[in-house]
Amino acid sequence: MSVPAYRSQEWLFDVAAGRYDVDLAVSGMEAHSVEPLLAEMTTKAGYDVDRGAGQLRETIAELYRVRPENVLITHGAQEALYLLYASLLEPGDEVVARGPGWQQTLDLPARFGATTKTVDYDLTNGDADGGARTAAAVGENTRMVVLNSPHNPTGLTFDDAQWEPLGATKTLVVNDEEYLTDFDRSVVQHVPGSCSVSSLSKVYGFPGLRLGWLVGPSDVVEKCVNYRRYTTISNSPLLEDLGLAVLRRRETYLAEYRRRLTDGWRVFREWATGHPQLQPLEPQGTPYVFCRVDLPETTSLQLCNELLDRERLLLMPGDVFGAPGHVRISYARPADLLTDGLDRLGRVVKSLSGLELAELT
Ligand SMILES: Cc1ncc(COP(=O)(O)O)c(C=O)c1O
Repeated sequence: MSVPAYRSQEWLFDVAAGRYDVDLAVSGMEAHSVEPLLAEMTTKAGYDVDRGAGQLRETIAELYRVRPENVLITHGAQEALYLLYASLLEPGDEVVARGPGWQQTLDLPARFGATTKTVDYDLTNGDADGGARTAAAVGENTRMVVLNSPHNPTGLTFDDAQWEPLGATKTLVVNDEEYLTDFDRSVVQHVPGSCSVSSLSKVYGFPGLRLGWLVGPSDVVEKCVNYRRYTTISNSPLLEDLGLAVLRRRETYLAEYRRRLTDGWRVFREWATGHPQLQPLEPQGTPYVFCRVDLPETTSLQLCNELLDRERLLLMPGDVFGAPGHVRISYARPADLLTDGLDRLGRVVKSLSGLELAELT
């Protein structure tokens, strides 16, 4: 059984490749250099422990207030999620997930004979009843509920009340917490027996370390460890040591990230007031903003292609998440780069809405 083309990666690495010089698409902090971390490296390049080095697992366990046996180190959140699907799903199982969303969750369970039931986000009310509607979708064959809060692409985040109905389902709840900064707010603290998946890719700006993790019940961790013995065996000890060095400087990286969010949002919000062609949904702690495109006779995909062709600007079309009519704009960028990108975007939306002509005549 083949898997469908992965639309977000296809957009970034295939369709848009070589056509942009300002990137407001890739989510998260801009990538950091590893140079300041290298001085600490004394790594021996042997095989690593299959579940990840002890010190790294202890560090992550502390962040979640769990035990090291509840932690598995993976190649990014993507591998953690893959291992969950591959090691837990059986033919006939059902996964309850949210739409629009991360394509892996929507399409991969079918590869293991499972089906995915999608509960759509209600953007008219900030998805206030999203937790209850998701819990209500859980049925007899539901093997797991996979959530993503803070959510990509809408930027919406579950509050305490939204988590509550999920605990009552007694089903394995997995939350993709790529964009969470405070693990006191993790699903693990809200839903007994749940799993959290996260990484150093977004908030910390180290996607190239491919350093992610799964936190969950030890029997789930063990099943995933065994599956990974068939695939990558272990992470690279070099990348794990670099990851540990990043986590030792956690507060510094987090402070920088939070500054980017505050400053970037101020710049974006001001820009947005003069550009009603894009209607933003206020992000709840994500480094990007999800915007409805309100342009005559121009789809979100056409807008993104026009931006590449006319202004060499990269945005993320909502289409790749199953949300046509929207674009996702990453605003956690240095002010000069963000302003440059928004100037380019402004010229194109004004031109496509006919405003340029109106202003000239
Ligand atoms: C919601 C979500 N999950 C998972 C991933 C995978 O990221 P990584 O494997 O780098 O942690 C991403 C990356 O964009 C994402 O947005």
